[in-house]
Formats: sequence, structure tokens, C-alpha cells
Amino acid sequence: MCGIIGYSGKREAAEVLLEGLRNLEYRGYDSAGIALFTQTGLKTYKAQGRLSQLEALLGDRLPDGQCGIGHTRWATHGAPSDVNAHPHASGKVTLVHNGILENYMDLKEILLNKGRIFTSQTDTEVIAQWLDEEYGKTPDPMAAICRTLKVLRGSYALGILFADHPGALYAVRKDSPLIVGLGQGENFIASDVTAILPYTRDYLLMEENEIAVVTPERAGLFTQDGQPFTREASHADWDISAAQKGGYAHFMRKEIDEQPHALEATLSPRLTGESIDFSADGVEDAFLSDFRSIQIVACGTAMHAGLIGKHLIESLARIPVSVNIASEYRYSNPIVGRDDLVIIVSQSGETADTLAALRLAKACGARTLAIVNVVGSSIAREAERVLYTYAGPEIAVASTKAFSVQMAMFYLLALRIASLSGTLSAKAAAVYVEKLKKLPRMVEDTLKAAGSCKEAVSDLVNASDLFYIGRGLDNCLCMEGSLKLKEISYLHSESYAAGELKHGAISLITEKVPVIAVATQPELLEKMVSNMREVKARGGFVLALCRAGSVIPEDAADRVIYLPDSVEEDLFAPLAAIVPLQLIAYEIAVLRGCDVDKPRNLAKSVTVE
Ligand code: G6P
Repeated sequence: MCGIIGYSGKREAAEVLLEGLRNLEYRGYDSAGIALFTQTGLKTYKAQGRLSQLEALLGDRLPDGQCGIGHTRWATHGAPSDVNAHPHASGKVTLVHNGILENYMDLKEILLNKGRIFTSQTDTEVIAQWLDEEYGKTPDPMAAICRTLKVLRGSYALGILFADHPGALYAVRKDSPLIVGLGQGENFIASDVTAILPYTRDYLLMEENEIAVVTPERAGLFTQDGQPFTREASHADWDISAAQKGGYAHFMRKEIDEQPHALEATLSPRLTGESIDFSADGVEDAFLSDFRSIQIVACGTAMHAGLIGKHLIESLARIPVSVNIASEYRYSNPIVGRDDLVIIVSQSGETADTLAALRLAKACGARTLAIVNVVGSSIAREAERVLYTYAGPEIAVASTKAFSVQMAMFYLLALRIASLSGTLSAKAAAVYVEKLKKLPRMVEDTLKAAGSCKEAVSDLVNASDLFYIGRGLDNCLCMEGSLKLKEISYLHSESYAAGELKHGAISLITEKVPVIAVATQPELLEKMVSNMREVKARGGFVLALCRAGSVIPEDAADRVIYLPDSVEEDLFAPLAAIVPLQLIAYEIAVLRGCDVDKPRNLAKSVTVE
């Protein structure tokens, strides 16, 4: 959701900005723009649509200049259009903004009364005009920024240029991520590290209400009152190849294939000998013991990983777990306090609803533990403890490898919590640990059978509605499979607990309506077969997904995809079964000609509530 890049150095800024924006495309956007200091002054170029529109506007000869800012916009205030695209300018001020200015109507009113005229419908232009107003009073950028910050309410990461300070970039961060990239004779600002990976892996994390001033030689940090301070630089372990397609047609397909590696990286540091150990993460056993309940809070795919987590923790540790959609949690007056453990799950660590839920849980005194993929993200920093998943950068909007490692983390947590609560013996835990070590291999085996998914989609691609049914763990997976399909192929699908289908949605099952039945749990297989037959009896088309050796009668399914023999343990089957569901969604989206990595209207990291 919205991306910011800024550059000051010796390279051609337009090239750096465009490359940075390309690397930020995955966040989701509907328009893009850049502004840079050229030989003839500060120039702005912006266009609605994909980056190619902006590139067409710029033409073959990119504008010259070594300092500038760029932005990809995901519309909140004002429709996607050339005018509403960023950067926005007012007098000497040109800026880009991520986030939402909550009091923009009030500020706009004041500015209108001063006779100012607005050209866009955005909240961002209000910031540009207000800053210009302040700059008019004292032409000192830092003083004008500090005074402006005092009136802004909401979330904002800003990249700012002042026309009479060529070569200098100013940046501000509040509730929207921003980093300062550190190079040799060049420096950057960016909303995330993937934008600057081609140039540097060293960066300064900006914290709430901090200001940065960036020139080719210096990257200085300041408090909101303009006082300078220093901070140690961070280093990104991710290398650029992790953020490139590496010969794949789409990031999503590459990331599906990266799952065995991501699982290995996430599981192995926590598997010591015969047990599970989080001490290197700073999560001590006492933190995982003695609570009344566990509440998992997350959005989208991360919430689905939470559903798997609930199932695992409840069945292994016999502790009640609730799974909460983060956007609802805040307004549901949750019963949460010091006796509860709240587990926050987020790939990006920046999802605004999830962050708000975390803050609420903390304010209520709960213990908070975050499962996060992006190091140093807001949720990782604000939670009491953090367990990082090591999936590497996930670029495709539709989450795949991040989901698998979130599930893996719940296996580890559920088993550790069960050991600590006494519901799992050391001997039984050791057996599970041995099985955990084999999981990356199991997923690799599953990926080898990708061809069968490709064949299966020919039966599904022309459908207008599709259903997923499953029971228990499989039901949670169905929700994720259905979400994947909707997100990237725009094919309408719904996920139903298999036994619930007959209580309503079965009325929608008519001739050839496809139903994907996930049946990986042996003790539920018989019941699942009955549910498949119910579908078949209404003329529906059943694609079953089950374990090797499962017997699916001919009258229950039209096609069956079998998981490999290495899926031995019922509990771990979801890690394998999610792979065909991801592949089916992917192949359907490709066949339907969809923009797989950047689906319409979606954003990778949703930083507004
Ligand atoms: C967006 C993305 C989803 C993602 C959700 C939560 O909606 O499109 O793919 O699952 O946010 O993101 P998070 O970064 O918190 O896991």
C-alpha cells in the first residue's frame, strides 16, 4: 500500500526512483509519480495507472538530476487520477505521503479561509499547503516541518523537497514505515528495504515522530523538535536475488517453490536436540506458561494461519484459544487482561488493524507475542516478544510462503506450550521434533507433484463460482485456498465447513459447479466422502485433495489429487495440502490472464485502518 522512495547522490535520480518504485510495486498501487531537482528547477511527473504510464510520460530521455522523491499511490482520499497522484506541490514544497491525515478537513478549512486553492481531493495536498504556509513564515525547512507536525493528526510517512534546497531530502515518520538507506556518497529514503536493496543493505530505522535530513554525504536523524541524535545502522540480511523473479514468470510461483527453504530457515533454529527452544528469540518458558487463554489476532492469510494455530494449541495443550480478525478486535470490547497471552500474526508487521489490536492488548495488560516476517517492523518492535519467521521478502501480494512459515511457527509454539503445560510428555515431544525436521522435505515432495494441479485446473477455470469444503484443520486450509483464488483470479469462491454446506449453500450447487474437497484427516475421511456425495448428487463437480492411500469411491469425486507418501502425520498434513491449493489458484489466475503478483485493488501491506 503506497510506496515511497527518495534519493540524493551522484546517480541519475530518475533511474533510481523508477527502479525503487518497481521494487515497491508489490505493495499495491493505482498511480505513480516522481519529482526531482533538474537543471531547470524542481519538476514533477505523475500518472494514473501502472508504472508504464509514468514511464511513457517521461519518454525515452529521462529528466536529469541527482536528487528526488518517488511514490506509488493506493487511493484513499480521492479517486485514482493524474491529479490525485503524488508528489503534491505547494509553493516551494513538494512531497509524497503514505498514510491518512485524519484531521485534513479541519486543516483544509483553515487553509481555504486563508484563500488557498486546492487542485486535488487528497489529504496529502493539505500537508503540502500547510507546510508551505509555515515555510513562508520562516524559510527554514526543519522549523517549518516541526511546526507542521504539531497540527497533523493521523498516520504519515513523508518525503519532502524544498525548491530552494536542491540536493536535500526531508523525511518524517509516524505510524507508517520509513527507513533511511545509507550508501557511499549517496543516501535514500524508502518505505521498505526492498526498494534500496540494489544499492545498499545498510539503513537507519526511523521511529515514531522522527525527522530525517538526507544529502549525498549525510543522513541525519532529528526529534520532532528538531534536536539531532544518532542511531546505530541496521543491516538487511535479504539479498537482492531474494527480491527478484530469478527466471520465474511471477513472484508468487517463485515464492511457492521457496517454501521448503523458508520452512527450514524458520524451524531449524528452534529445534535443538529433542526439544523446541525459543531462548535464542528471547522468549523464555515462563512467558509461554500460566495464562487463562490465548487470543490470536491477525488479518487475511495471517488470520488463517491463526486458525490452524488454534486447532494445534487446543488439541495439544488443551488451552482455550480464540482467533480474532484484527479490524473487529478493537471494536469488540475484548475480554483481555494480564492473564491472557495475545499472539499477533503479521507477515509485514505493518498492518494497521493488527497494529492497533496489539496496542489495545498491551494497554489492557496482556502478554503480547508477535509472529512477524519483516525484521524491525512496527509490530515486531511494539510487541513484548517477537518470533521472526524467516521466509525472506515476500513480494507477490498473495501470501504463500509467509503462510507456511506462520503455520510452522504455530507447530513449534503449540508443542512447546503443550510441553510446558504438561499435556505433552518429553518423549512424545521428541517424536514430534523428529517429524518437524522432515517437514521441509515433505513440502518439497509435494511441490514435485505440481503437474497434477496444472491438469486439474482445466476443470475449474471456466467456472463462475467455486466452493471449498473441509473439516477440522482442512476447513482452515479451505479458507486460505478460497482466499488465494479470489485474490488473484477474481473467480468467486466460498469456503464452507463441509458439514455446514447442507445448511444453506448447497442450494447453489447445480450442474458442474466445482467443489474442492480437502480431506487429509483420516478420522474425518468417511464424513468427507458423504459430503462429496451430497455435492455429486446435485450434479456438482468434485475435485478431492487427500492423502496417499486414501480410498475415495468413484461416485464421490470426479478427480483426486493425492499428497505424497511422506505426509505421514495427520497434524502436519496442512503444510503439504496448502501447496496444491496455492498452485490451483495460481494456475487458474494465469489461465484467466490475471496480473498474478499485483491483483487489482489489493495491497501487500495495508497500512490504513
Ligand atoms: C493484506 C494482504 C494479505 C495479507 C493481509 C495481512 O490484505 O493482501 O495477503 O494476508 O494484508 O497482512 P500481514 O502483513 O499483516 O500478514
